[in-house]
Amino acid sequence: MDAVLVTGGSGQLGRRVIGELLEQGRAVQAISRRPGPQAAGLTWVTGDLNSAATLQRGLDGVSRVVHLATQPLRPGKDLQMTSALLGAVQDRHIEHFVYMSISGLERMQGAPYYREKLEIERRLRTSGLRLTIQRSTQFHKFVADLLGKLTLGPVTLVPTGVTLQPVEVSAVARCLAQVVQGAPAGQRRDLSGPAPEAIELLARQWHRHRARTGRVASAPIPLPLFRAWQHSAAVPEEAEPVGRPWIRWLQETA
Ligand SMILES: NC(=O)c1ccc[n+]([C@@H]2O[C@H](COP(=O)([O-])OP(=O)(O)OC[C@H]3O[C@@H](n4cnc5c(N)ncnc54)[C@H](OP(=O)(O)O)[C@@H]3O)[C@@H](O)[C@H]2O)c1
Repeated sequence: MDAVLVTGGSGQLGRRVIGELLEQGRAVQAISRRPGPQAAGLTWVTGDLNSAATLQRGLDGVSRVVHLATQPLRPGKDLQMTSALLGAVQDRHIEHFVYMSISGLERMQGAPYYREKLEIERRLRTSGLRLTIQRSTQFHKFVADLLGKLTLGPVTLVPTGVTLQPVEVSAVARCLAQVVQGAPAGQRRDLSGPAPEAIELLARQWHRHRARTGRVASAPIPLPLFRAWQHSAAVPEEAEPVGRPWIRWLQETA
């Protein structure tokens, strides 16, 4: 059986997608700049997606691709590495190329990362590849890490006017592992957590389970990400709810 290539295999989503695919008996090849673990059925290619040699090794014997590699804090890098990957798959027989994206991109174009993701989606759609774009909302850990960064001493200061619907990354990984082994679907329905919540509530629950003391305050925070998230822009109009709710994830990972 041909292998599945997972780019960004060492990332929080990539690790779990690889685990799911291996459990289902699928051969996996992974690419990331950091070396990955060793496991039966897994071939790790350590290298940069911008390198032709890395791509050649990573794509050898592969018929399906899950593209997860990202550098959210380095504008232009995702477009660059995706272009390199697209160039490398062009002359190969790829039965299914799956790209992981983010809910609400069209409404959040004030943030550079979201602009770049939307441009990547556009390029993929016109690439002629047999493609599925799978969007989801923010992962629980992303929201938890963000709340950590917004905490100074006992106070967590969150942006006003933000609603999120965070999702459990393991549930997204389970879904992606199934999607890539199926037929190309174009754009799939978004994946999300069960319900949208104000960031103030998410923060209060996080406080209760993590910090235990202190308080949550809210104020306008003039950052592109928080501006982009205004008016429920990050909450999908329609989505498939998957995984544990935020509160249960907090309880069970505390
Ligand atoms: N995090 C969220 O809340 C969220 C929500 C919805 C959708 N998504 C999407 O899901 C995907 C995966 O996100 P994630 O949170 O799992 O990301 P992550 O944990 O930051 O992992 C990113 C991965 O990309 C690899 N990478 C970065 N630059 C590379 C390069 N030049 N060459 C090779 N590998 C490279 C990294 O490995 P090395 O550093 O070792 O190279 C790492 O394995 C992204 O497309 C993201 O936009 C994320």
